[in-house]
Amino acid sequence: MKTDRVLEDIKSRLDIVEFVSDYIELKKSGQNYKANCPFHAEKTPSFMVSRSKQIFHCFGCGDGGDIFGFVMKYENLNFQEALKMLAKKAGVQLSGYRFEDGLAEKKERLYAIQKEALNTFAANLKKSKTALAYLDKRGVSREMTDVFFLGYADKGRKALYDHLKAKGFDDSLIMQSGLIFTGESGLHDVFRNRLMFPICNIQGDAIAFGGRAIDEAMPKYLNSPETLLFKKSETLYGLNAAKDEIRKKGYVMITEGYLDVIMCCMHGFLNVVAPLGTALTTGHLQKLCRFTKKVLLVFDSDAAGIAAAKRSLSILYEHGFRSKILLLPEGDDPDSFLRKSGSRAFQIKLSKSESMVDFILRLKGDRSDNVRTAIGIIDNAKDLILREELFKELAEKSGIREAVLRGETKRYEQRAGIGSERLGAAAKTAGFLYDEEVLLLSAIVAFPDRAPYIFANLNVDRVCNPVVRQILQEIKPSAERLNMNTMLGILNDEGKALITRLSLNPGFDIEHVDNNIRDCLRKMAHCEIEEKIRLAKTAGDLRLLNSLLAEKQKITSRCDSQPRREDERTA
Ligand code: UTP
Ligand code: MN
Repeated sequence: MKTDRVLEDIKSRLDIVEFVSDYIELKKSGQNYKANCPFHAEKTPSFMVSRSKQIFHCFGCGDGGDIFGFVMKYENLNFQEALKMLAKKAGVQLSGYRFEDGLAEKKERLYAIQKEALNTFAANLKKSKTALAYLDKRGVSREMTDVFFLGYADKGRKALYDHLKAKGFDDSLIMQSGLIFTGESGLHDVFRNRLMFPICNIQGDAIAFGGRAIDEAMPKYLNSPETLLFKKSETLYGLNAAKDEIRKKGYVMITEGYLDVIMCCMHGFLNVVAPLGTALTTGHLQKLCRFTKKVLLVFDSDAAGIAAAKRSLSILYEHGFRSKILLLPEGDDPDSFLRKSGSRAFQIKLSKSESMVDFILRLKGDRSDNVRTAIGIIDNAKDLILREELFKELAEKSGIREAVLRGETKRYEQRAGIGSERLGAAAKTAGFLYDEEVLLLSAIVAFPDRAPYIFANLNVDRVCNPVVRQILQEIKPSAERLNMNTMLGILNDEGKALITRLSLNPGFDIEHVDNNIRDCLRKMAHCEIEEKIRLAKTAGDLRLLNSLLAEKQKITSRCDSQPRREDERTA
């Protein structure tokens, strides 16, 4: 069976309104249903679900999609997992449906290898005096050793490999686990003589490992390479253990290292995670947003810590996370601070954490530079409510009027027109066609049968708005058989967000769709040709000028024919 058929089958048996109602309380509002958005913090509902269109869209944070998109985001599932879950709910058999080359089965085997490795490392640790002594030296209790399934990879060149072979795993799978590599002298275990930190997914399955040298070996920390199970930039250490407490406390603490997470936990601070030696990424935030959209960064106050804090705040606010920051005394991370000063002192520090605005304004250097840094962070935030709050706070604390601060934003004007699109410099100069482009896309969303006509008369590559351009480029090959389902199947999250929004709020008078389409196409084609004519005039190229004027004539007459009539002629 083909994927689209299975998807259509599942979707036809489930109703998005009933499905979403199992998660959040929906209230009827006109033709649609609404609620406070589960994906961003808000006090008045802007999250809409449409029964007739079988989609959701949040007018606050801009997220949108179909039932698959909803469950993937809410339950933090990948597509395969969502497929399994919804198929079960819809009573659709997936047995006739083959996952790409047995991918699901292969993943199951890879999980089994990670688990086998975890058990082996844990057993090794119980037997290794040096490793246990190292843990004691670091002040890690036996209880925490168990809670975090810590282990020890012993010194043998290929002890783990031999063990996995003995357990019946075949070489090709073992090589894909990230635990073994081939060197000049043959197969080696990746981790040798290291304290092992299992890295788990949200369900708590081991997917990779971090290993700390317990002697002078370099590097100090070594992580598994990326595998089918492990994407470093999407994984947060400790999230599976911390998730319930994050929900309960209403925020997450983000630290920098494995031992920071473990030490916080040991001292009673359980809502703690750490990225794996990388900066925070969108992938991390996508995992976190299901549990909370409030963050407390706890970093060292050295130059590196401050730089990391600035970068982190920027991406956090971009994605609508309300964030505070605690800088520990220079040279201290949560691990060393807790060991030296204990949980009470740490608690007092936590209560003194700063807002993003306070932190930025207090940075060393020129005050107006700092104000601009803050404006830059605020200007990147997609969540309009959050932007409002931050501008107010910045105005209050910097003593600069809000209007002046807003005048410093680059994208404020464009945003007012079309939400959260990222604008390239080139697009900005030609930005006067944005309305027409969005309107054409909106017409396709509302009347997919007009798509072939629109594509026949539109130079998609010349579309100025980058988000609209990408959407049009992606759906063009399917122009003959477009509908909401096919579009959602093709587009990325940003694309989905825009078309679900337009679907619920077309922004034009649907009675006059064909007139609207014709006017837009004409205006866009004219702009393009006028530009070329201007260039030809400047260059004094008469022959080119003549052919362009003829082309202009053609465009005018082509666009004058009604889309309806065009359809009838080809039908
Ligand atoms: P730090 O160097 O701050 O180490 O790295 P730490 O956590 O304080 O470690 P200890 O206290 O010396 O044991 C912070 C994090 O950066 C990653 C690890 O995830 C580590 O926890 N890291 C660090 C690496 O991936 N590789 C390295 O060589 C060093
Ligand atoms: Mn440390």
